[in-house]
Amino acid sequence: VKIKVESHGGNATSTHQYGFLHEDISNSGDGGLYAELIRNRAFQNIEFHPASLDAWSPVNGASLSLNVLDQLLSSALQYSMNVAADSSAGQVGFSNDGYWGMNVKKQTYTGSFWVKGDYEGSFTASLQSNLTGEVFGSTEVESKATSSEWTEHTYQLVPTKDAPNANNTFILTFDAAGAKAGSLDFNLISLFPPTYRGRKNGLRIDLAEAIESFHPTLLRIPGGNMLEGLTNTTRWDWKETLGPLKDRPGYPNVWGYPQTNGLGLMEYLELSEDMNLEIVLAVYSGLALNGDIVPKEKLQPFIDDALDEVEFISGAADTKWGSVRAALGHPAPFKLQFVQVGNEDWLAGGEVGWQTYQDYRFPMFFEAIRVRYPHIHVLSSGSVFDGHNIPAPGLGDYHVYATPNSLVDQFDLFDQTPVTHIIGEAAAVHPNGGAGWDGPELMAYPFWIGTVGEAVSMIGYERNTDRIIGSCYAPILRSLDRWQWAVTMIHFAADPAKTTKSTSWYTWELFAGHLMTHTLPASASYDPLYYVTGKNQDKGTFIFKGAVYNSTAGADVPVSLKFDGVKAGTQAELTLLTGPADPYGYNDPFTGVNVVKTTKQHLAAGKDGSFKFSMPNLSVAVLETEPS
Ligand code: AHR
Repeated sequence: VKIKVESHGGNATSTHQYGFLHEDISNSGDGGLYAELIRNRAFQNIEFHPASLDAWSPVNGASLSLNVLDQLLSSALQYSMNVAADSSAGQVGFSNDGYWGMNVKKQTYTGSFWVKGDYEGSFTASLQSNLTGEVFGSTEVESKATSSEWTEHTYQLVPTKDAPNANNTFILTFDAAGAKAGSLDFNLISLFPPTYRGRKNGLRIDLAEAIESFHPTLLRIPGGNMLEGLTNTTRWDWKETLGPLKDRPGYPNVWGYPQTNGLGLMEYLELSEDMNLEIVLAVYSGLALNGDIVPKEKLQPFIDDALDEVEFISGAADTKWGSVRAALGHPAPFKLQFVQVGNEDWLAGGEVGWQTYQDYRFPMFFEAIRVRYPHIHVLSSGSVFDGHNIPAPGLGDYHVYATPNSLVDQFDLFDQTPVTHIIGEAAAVHPNGGAGWDGPELMAYPFWIGTVGEAVSMIGYERNTDRIIGSCYAPILRSLDRWQWAVTMIHFAADPAKTTKSTSWYTWELFAGHLMTHTLPASASYDPLYYVTGKNQDKGTFIFKGAVYNSTAGADVPVSLKFDGVKAGTQAELTLLTGPADPYGYNDPFTGVNVVKTTKQHLAAGKDGSFKFSMPNLSVAVLETEPS
């Protein structure tokens, strides 16, 4: 294929073309990105999830029970755990399994718990092996506990050695003889390892770094279905995710487990700041997953709530909600340019839901946000391809979970619309020929041919970068211990050694690591080589991104690439990603097998100024020249 790239005539890009959606699915938040080690730390009884002692076990014959005391720790956290024992029992207490284990290293852990009850003595907090009982670290915490009020105890714990695996538990004990009434009540028992960028209540370092290292520049929050909630009364309420942990009631996660909301709106904003991510904020649009729809005359409070949220994020510190943010330690407004009304309103509410969205829900939010915040771009939760005739200057959102073939078929989808979109969720999830949402047709992990299919569609999006703000992979993180959605960019368990970057991570990393500021037109047809060309004006480089999908008889594709103005001898780096012999091969967290091969080559432009290289079938490549 001979590609001749012009030096003028393309489009400026958004420069934040690659990112991800985060919602708490497959324990991607609690037990995942959110670094808290204690599972079920506050017995959060939230509708659909009655309080339970899940993850807790008695130590040395203590008796554990859940209570709602007359004096609550807070109205948000109503249940507490009573730990009772005979005064002669010695050291008694409880253990916690964590999120299916705990990573124990010689580092500083920060712990806290609240107690009510008269107790003279000290508490012992320790980290131990489940297999051998070996204690890796423990510390004594002097009691300040009384029966008249809840008292918080804080401490630091530094293990003296690294645990050989993550099959470890947290144990807290006290001397039964010192507990005057024969029992003590506990709540909000928390333990954090060091966090990403040292943030209090922060993120798990290896997972944040695995995300950061694919160079994302776009973050869509807070869902996904998490935004919608199961019913109108159990939606993700951003106001309940702010401030001290004892004031966060939690949320009945739509993916079947209770959610602490320790990873709340402020934590998302800090993440966006730490990784320099452009935010796409989705606001609740009056549709829940069970099909509940807020009628027109009752929608205004939800619109007001969305306006409050925008003010909380981006308002000056002297505004009502900006001052709340300032009181939480962030006086400077966060940048916010994109607000999306709802999530997939074309799906959850059926035809009626989608109709009400177009008739009054989207227009009412759209108008209110634009009047108050004219600089903000308002996005629909659907696309023109879902049938939304989006009023100008509104933007669309396209979600695609597809087969590799259909991603390739959609290569030119966005050539056909003048309306600007984001690709709010994208992934190859089905094998070619498969289509169902459940069952055997869904793949277990991102797989190589799917990854190449994604690369083809991403190239299609970049070619239309004047109308595509950027693309988000979804979902981003999946616990190997409890999950609902298999095909996910990064897989993890309690043991960081299991953290696995999928095949898709490699292409997203490659494309996001070579951002164009402008596309440049090129002369050649597509299929089996799909490509986009452009430049990074800030760096003074020229860039080619390409993918070969299903070449004739699986043959290599020779490429001759000439950028107008690039002289003979100019150097370039070509990065080529190739996959396994089995196109459905994947990176396996359990065996550690990585099927993606990365090859780097240094090329010099020939006498005619062109770069010559060859791409195998099912490969992805980026070439970037030296600055000129
Ligand atoms: O990414 C998983 C789910 O897929 C999202 O929550 C939802 O928006 C989509 O249907």
